[in-house]
Amino acid sequence: MKIKENVEKAINDQIRMELASAYTYLSMAAYFETKAFSGFASWMRLQCQEEEEHAMRFYNYLHDRDGRVELQALEKPAHEFGTPLEVFEQSLESERQVTASIHALYDLAVKEKDHATVSMLKWFVDEQVEEEKSALDMVDKLKLAGDHPGALLILDKEAGQRSSE
Ligand code: FEO
Repeated sequence: MKIKENVEKAINDQIRMELASAYTYLSMAAYFETKAFSGFASWMRLQCQEEEEHAMRFYNYLHDRDGRVELQALEKPAHEFGTPLEVFEQSLESERQVTASIHALYDLAVKEKDHATVSMLKWFVDEQVEEEKSALDMVDKLKLAGDHPGALLILDKEAGQRSSE
């Protein structure tokens, strides 16, 4: 069954949000590179790749449903960020916004009785639990580390060991 126009539009908006997230994570990675936090930079690059994969899931799904992908303009991401804690807090806030957007999309799919989209979105609902958890874990650890350079370097190293899921 061809996807309804309003659901198609909401998915195109979600593709933009995922790609905007990818763009911001890449900018955060570049920022950490300049601060010699290569582990945090690597974490952010992996996160950027995950966001691209999220966008492509929606992209493929729209085509599967005989829908039309319409890419939108992305804003220039921030260039300067703060401490590692502030960067990861920003990441957590961004993930919470993505979660709210996925939930709104889910509600729309339920309202439209679009069962296929509801089913597809269940993966994203679960994924967002993981996305928020991994950002929150880093925020909690960075709070414990405070301003201690040794602790920050240990966390940087740990972040660099993250592998793609
Ligand atoms: Fe695609 Fe991090 O949400």
